Amino acid sequence: MKLTPEQIEQFDRDGYLFFPSLFSPEEIRTLTEAVPAIYERREAYNVREKGSDAVRTNFAAHMYSEPFARLARHPRMVEPVRELFGDDLYMHQFKVNGKMAFEGDVWQWHQDYGTWLNDDMMPEPRAMNVAIFLDDVNEYNGPLMFIPGSHRKGVVEARHDLNTTSYPLWVVENELIAQLVERGGGKNGGIVSPKGPAGSMILFHGCLLHASTSNLSPWNRVSVYLSLCAVSNHIRRFKRPEFIAHRDFTPIDCLPDDCLLEPYPVDLPWKNGMPASALATSLEPIDQIKQAA
Ligand code: SIN
Ligand code: MN
Repeated sequence: MKLTPEQIEQFDRDGYLFFPSLFSPEEIRTLTEAVPAIYERREAYNVREKGSDAVRTNFAAHMYSEPFARLARHPRMVEPVRELFGDDLYMHQFKVNGKMAFEGDVWQWHQDYGTWLNDDMMPEPRAMNVAIFLDDVNEYNGPLMFIPGSHRKGVVEARHDLNTTSYPLWVVENELIAQLVERGGGKNGGIVSPKGPAGSMILFHGCLLHASTSNLSPWNRVSVYLSLCAVSNHIRRFKRPEFIAHRDFTPIDCLPDDCLLEPYPVDLPWKNGMPASALATSLEPIDQIKQAA
């Protein structure tokens, strides 16, 4: 899939691109059907909502689930990002966020690059967030909200919030959010929330400010969120476990376009469990680890 010059311009201006119904219902069904089996596992990679058994976020499904391993190599998703960055890509992070009916909690206002910089020592914001809807997303089930153009601010000040939800996040204070929304047009376009059927995809910049409210509707909002990082921009520190911030910087080799419908073979290195090394963390930059080894 090639981006048009208008789409490239729109991405630079707004910080995101929305592709409604990019994947067909048949393609999405292969993923949706695989979700219960990954969510039921009692593993560190399933983070549950505060005080509930509902999965908030599942990490690294592409390492142990065939349909998600195929999605991780899908050319419809990978090629436009490769084009925007002009570099090969590796998978920095792979999540299946539940935002389950009645249970899904908020995601506070944040930029993902804040975390990639502060925790992972990623040199530049040259990693793209990709959201793929596995359920229809509407105004009731906690759609993602963006402040268009806010990526042009670069990295803004953030605070490490360990309390609001079950997942620690570098969050941005309300005052700054209010200013940025006002500057972006206030009630006229200062916040947008792309909504659409299952199979829709959003690409969004690592510095774009985003958030989502809780899901009080009776409809799940399961979405895949993954981050594709330019290979030359790989992280320099393993402060977070490997199932959250990946350490294999090998370029993604795409499968054919029908890979969600045909059983192309894929490697599943964590099929029988994660190695102990995936849980090991270090505060040292990796060039220092290599020197010490
Ligand atoms: C995220 O920002 O990583 C997730 C947001 C959401 O699931 O709404
Ligand atoms: Mn995020």
